[in-house]
Amino acid sequence: MGKASSKGKQTIDQTTKKRNVEVCVSIDFGTTYTGYAFSFKKIHTYMFGNERKMPTVVLLDPDRKLAAFGSEATTKYLELCETNEHEGWYLFERFKMALFVQDAPLDKDIEIEEILEKKLKAIDVFTEAIKYIKTEVISALRHRTILDTTKAEVKSEADIHWVLTVPAIWNDLSKKFMRDAAINAGIPSEVLTLALEPEVASLFCKKQLRYEDSSGRRYIVLDLGGGTADITIHEVNPDGTLKEIHQPMGGDFGGTSVDQMFVRTLIQVFGAPAFQNFKKNSMCEYKDLMQKFEEKKCRFDGQNKIRIKFPSQLSEIFVRETNESFESSLRQTHFENDINLVTDKMVLSVKLVKSFFDDAIDKIVRLINDLLNKVSGIDDIVLVGGFSESKYLQTVMRSTFGNKIIIPSYQSSAVQHGAVIYGYEQKGIASRVCKYTYGIARMMEFKSYHLLSKRVTIDGVDFCDDIFYKHIEIGTTVNVADAQNVEAHEYFPSQSEMRNAVLEVYASPKQNPMYVDEEGCQLVGLVKVDIDPKGDINSKFLVKMIFGGTELRIEVTDVKNNIVTISSVDFIG
Ligand SMILES: Nc1ncnc2c1ncn2[C@@H]1O[C@H](COP(=O)(O)OP(=O)(O)OP(=O)(O)O)[C@@H](O)[C@H]1O
Ligand SMILES: [Mg+2]
Repeated sequence: MGKASSKGKQTIDQTTKKRNVEVCVSIDFGTTYTGYAFSFKKIHTYMFGNERKMPTVVLLDPDRKLAAFGSEATTKYLELCETNEHEGWYLFERFKMALFVQDAPLDKDIEIEEILEKKLKAIDVFTEAIKYIKTEVISALRHRTILDTTKAEVKSEADIHWVLTVPAIWNDLSKKFMRDAAINAGIPSEVLTLALEPEVASLFCKKQLRYEDSSGRRYIVLDLGGGTADITIHEVNPDGTLKEIHQPMGGDFGGTSVDQMFVRTLIQVFGAPAFQNFKKNSMCEYKDLMQKFEEKKCRFDGQNKIRIKFPSQLSEIFVRETNESFESSLRQTHFENDINLVTDKMVLSVKLVKSFFDDAIDKIVRLINDLLNKVSGIDDIVLVGGFSESKYLQTVMRSTFGNKIIIPSYQSSAVQHGAVIYGYEQKGIASRVCKYTYGIARMMEFKSYHLLSKRVTIDGVDFCDDIFYKHIEIGTTVNVADAQNVEAHEYFPSQSEMRNAVLEVYASPKQNPMYVDEEGCQLVGLVKVDIDPKGDINSKFLVKMIFGGTELRIEVTDVKNNIVTISSVDFIG
């Protein structure tokens, strides 16, 4: 369960300040692209080792060993397809989204599907990917040392502090999953910091836009990636640090939703069986079609039609399966005026292409409007992430929000750059806003206002079960520096002989939830604690939930034995 236990107080959250960190490396593990950056302490200025982002694509061989990562993985897979040897291999793309779960706790054994829908455990795929990136970074660092005239060098891996980014809207178990994958990949937990993507992008933008001296300035950072739109709102403090003024917001409406709309349209036109058949049996043509769409999508400005080479094999499959020509079938759909065939090209109307973008853009606009209504005094809306490079999206955002929209340079690599800054300057984020009301499930003395259905009687005493025992309320601002100074709540063993307890941590969007099974209330994870009441039923243990960091920490003090344990929430089961 990733916890440290000892006599007296100890923390597993060691950060750069406690170690002699020579180099800080960030990994922005994206849904579509992965980037990294590094900075040597000696150089005293941020040097970003690598501007290049690689596609987040993993190829495993039939023995489930990593064969390639990034563009190489796609190239190798397509070579295998040409000779029809690909079926036993595993090509994983866009798998980070499997960790974005909203209504249930993440299952640690969650499986993900590769391109031909074969399933593997997600943890193994994430581990292989991070292992690859780690090796690539270390080799880049060594290479850099040779080139570097300022003699910055990495003598050993122990000189490195790693910062791995995750979306701010992820829940606690998803963050823990990434930490576990990084540990499996050989990054020790004590040299790893998780950073929140829009938050570190904000640190980068603050430098880039020279906001340090603009005390009181309030701005929204909108990180529009491939999978998620992730939003944070910051105000610049008088000392130049940042204060979060609303909990992170967002959802699964990143750039890949545009591609999904395109695929959905093809399925509507050709039918799901023909499309599946095409994907299975004409993989090269399928990948080529998606690549061409990606290129055209990135150039779409809201004015131009998109022309793409018609996927002839898809059409052949369709004709074989339906005995109908594509043209006549198209006339029977509502796409008749929006998709045309001109020689060997499929021409998509401006209206149709806009509709691919509009679902995501509408959700983004609605969310920003909600925030502008709730939070006063927002000066700027800063767009970062690859999807925000879309000219069409920029046009809609500018026409909706006017000159509040700011697009900084290096917007697509703001996260990897900002994460390096965060590695050295964690104090740059001075406070955070709690995004849920957090509490622990417990039994309490039964009172007249409790639900009768919750009453349980133990040894003649009536208790109320399933109470949401609140530790912190949604919207509370926590100063990172005093995060440790929260109230400790008392819990008692239910039997005098018990040796361990399992606390169920719940989160709710309500300010004062009463029961843990109320609507909207979610089990966030478990805290497993070793206790030893030594026969004393009144031997209390104290529980502190420490918010304010990028991960939730739980501190449990076994008062009788003077043992303090700090852990994160753990998986269920
Ligand atoms: N000019 C453009 N027009 C439209 N979409 C674009 C453009 N440039 C990049 N994109 C899209 O942006 C996405 C990639 O952005 P980015 O690299 O920020 O995502 P990511 O970090 O991989 O994802 P996430 O942060 O959600 O995990 C892709 O979906 C890509 O198609
Ligand atoms: Mg991203």
